Amino acid sequence: MALVTVHRKAHFNAAHRLFNPEWNDKKNNDIFGKCANPHFHGHNYELIVSVKGMVDPITGFVMDMKVLKDLIKIEVEEKLDHKNLNIEVDEFKSLNPTAENISVVIWNKLRGKISQELELTITLYETPRNYVVYSGE
Ligand code: NI
Repeated sequence: MALVTVHRKAHFNAAHRLFNPEWNDKKNNDIFGKCANPHFHGHNYELIVSVKGMVDPITGFVMDMKVLKDLIKIEVEEKLDHKNLNIEVDEFKSLNPTAENISVVIWNKLRGKISQELELTITLYETPRNYVVYSGE
């Protein structure tokens, strides 16, 4: 049996603002720069969901990609796409929606829905050059 990682790409657009409500505007601006803009701004997020496990000898799959596709659609795209993350997504009402925190939230949403025998990794691009990777550690 072989250990293989399968990847599924997805995409969502979302708006956010990075700030700490306990800091004044200057400090928020110093730390978060343009991302502290009180009027929010958007990103085109590119997501890669990676699932690692043994190839099932009967199906030849690590995981049914149709199942993974639907899971990403229901748990990620429908909840985050075209949303204002700070205002419309419960997880970010008191958590800064940085790429780091978004990757952790996505991982948590998917982890319970994928077999525990499979390893889950989230790669999230906030811009074409900035991306984060989270595997649940
Ligand atoms: Ni931003």
